[in-house]
Amino acid sequence: MISQNSIAQVFETARVEEVIGDFVQLKKAGTNFKGLSPFSDERSPSFVVSPVKQIWKDFSSGKGGNAVTFLMEHEHFTYPEAIKYLAKKYNIEIEETERTDEEKAHADTRESLYLVSEYANTYFQKTLHNTNQGKAIGLSYFKERGFTEETIKKFQLGYSLDEWQAFTDDALGKGYNINFLEQTGLTIVKGEKRFDRFKGRVMFPIHSMSGRILGFGGRILTNDKKAAKYLNSPESEIYYKSKILYGLYHAKQSIAKEDNCYLVEGYTDVIQFHQTGITNVVSSSGTALSPDQIRLINRLTNNITVLFDGDAAGIRASIRGIDLILEQGVNVKICTFPDGEDPDSFSKSNTLEELTEYLNSNAKDFIQFKASLLVKEANNDPIKKAETIREIVNSISKIPDQIKREIYIQECARIMDISENVLFTTLAQINKKESQDASKAPKQEQKAFQVVKNEPQAKRKIDIQYELERKIIEILMLYGDKTEQFEDLILKEDEASGELILEPTKHETRVFEKIYLDLQEDEMQFSNPQFKALYYSIIDKLNQDQNFSTKNFINQLDQDSASTVTSILMEDERYNLHDWERNQITPKEKKDSVSQLVSQTILSLRCHLIDQKVADYKNETLNENADKRAIIEDVKDYVGLKMLLSRKLGKVVG
Ligand code: CTP
Ligand code: MN
Repeated sequence: MISQNSIAQVFETARVEEVIGDFVQLKKAGTNFKGLSPFSDERSPSFVVSPVKQIWKDFSSGKGGNAVTFLMEHEHFTYPEAIKYLAKKYNIEIEETERTDEEKAHADTRESLYLVSEYANTYFQKTLHNTNQGKAIGLSYFKERGFTEETIKKFQLGYSLDEWQAFTDDALGKGYNINFLEQTGLTIVKGEKRFDRFKGRVMFPIHSMSGRILGFGGRILTNDKKAAKYLNSPESEIYYKSKILYGLYHAKQSIAKEDNCYLVEGYTDVIQFHQTGITNVVSSSGTALSPDQIRLINRLTNNITVLFDGDAAGIRASIRGIDLILEQGVNVKICTFPDGEDPDSFSKSNTLEELTEYLNSNAKDFIQFKASLLVKEANNDPIKKAETIREIVNSISKIPDQIKREIYIQECARIMDISENVLFTTLAQINKKESQDASKAPKQEQKAFQVVKNEPQAKRKIDIQYELERKIIEILMLYGDKTEQFEDLILKEDEASGELILEPTKHETRVFEKIYLDLQEDEMQFSNPQFKALYYSIIDKLNQDQNFSTKNFINQLDQDSASTVTSILMEDERYNLHDWERNQITPKEKKDSVSQLVSQTILSLRCHLIDQKVADYKNETLNENADKRAIIEDVKDYVGLKMLLSRKLGKVVG
């Protein structure tokens, strides 16, 4: 268990914008930062981080919270893991008390899979560096490849002994559960027998964006034709091939800094690039990029440069997958290497300056690259040329930005020596066909879509009580500790007419006291249980603590309440977000003064309560035995009161 002291220190030090900045590319927007949501697939940013409030809100998924909740959501950390991660980031030493057996047992499956993988990673590294076989076979292989000691350490490369179950036995001996060893694929279980999956291979651990071990790749060292050269961990609860990019952990900062990401084929290309000095490089491990992987990169940069081996046949097949990247609105460049070279071999035999120079002068825009390639292939064959045109325009049609599309059409017309008109016509045909396909296709799906679309509208029927309770929590969080000048209306009976009148009087008081006393006076109860609990705990805190801070308060709440409070506090940012998007303007300051806001909210709430009372009375008159005269008198009083309140609010009585 981490001591309360350490937790408090972590919360004191951590800055939400710095923590999130490691995962999401944030841009300054007014007093906030905004970026693309890391939780959904979006092109215009709806993810807002407030350095002032020290919270974040993702308007596309509805998630929100503080630095710790971000790490829990994004990295799937447990609470203690998130605290430890932050402590490490900010160099805070953590006081820790031993985990009890019960706590250990409670670590869920995912956590166990992480722990087993972490253990295996340490084990494979130790085996590489500290055993005779590791040194003689594994380490000397890496050295032969040209990897330095520093590189081997940096990528935590390892070795798995050439024995049937050396690792499995070791892990079982240390108390790791066979189920988790099997689920991570580290151990293959066949009846009573157990085998080490990576027996006799050099090991490449695969890290998550935050550096946790998700799985492994293992390269065989013998010339066994029957066995695969590279073997990867099977998919598990922590290892999803399509959501992982090898090298991202080591590359994320320089990808953002360079505003470009190099995409290579495999482990050795990534590692050799690093060793030569280019660090903004990742690999999708042989397969075409998945939308999830593109999204991972897209959070850091809008530019991807795909690096291809020299052989031409491979290129033709590979570029098909690239339309998928274009669809995500990413700018794609292509760079090929001389015949017989791949990124690994080329970067090994060249200096950083030479490599950089080569990449800069050979990286071509994807569309132009594809156009030139196809033109060469089509030569003077008219049928092939027509095919080529369709193919290239098809790629162009995937680009979401219309201006870019037009520029590409012009470029390609030049490269392919063909009129722009032909290309524009082809583009129009493709677009038309696609929209037809879309409308023709699943009628039923459309229906389902409509149902979904209608639902939020039905829900939108505003629950006034709910909105007002929410508003009160917001006011308390933002201004609860402020002292304000209030104009209170004292209800009086006019001596001459006998009518009820409101007489204004001014006085200074703290906002939370004003709210508390007013609500108490009306015997107003929160109807929403979560708001009610929050209300009392905020009032309680404000009462005890002269230096109330929203940041500390949120940190003490359970995850559910913290998320509710964050949503409330970020509500105003949603509108600002729209305005930035639409009008490119910075948000205006709140016009109303705090005291006006408080008074209006309380008055509105009172009006609402009166409405409810009147409605109750109306129901009562339906009862045969009711004293109708008395009820009517009461209703008259309430209606009179409501008129006064409404006048004050500047509203017409509804
Ligand atoms: N790769 C893979 N699976 C394979 C072959 C290759 O995942 N069956 C990936 C690896 O990540 C490797 C990269 O593609 O780093 C390059 O492949 P290759 O050159 O065949 O691997 P090397 O280890 O460099 O082998 P060689 O020494 O024969 O070049
Ligand atoms: Mn190779």
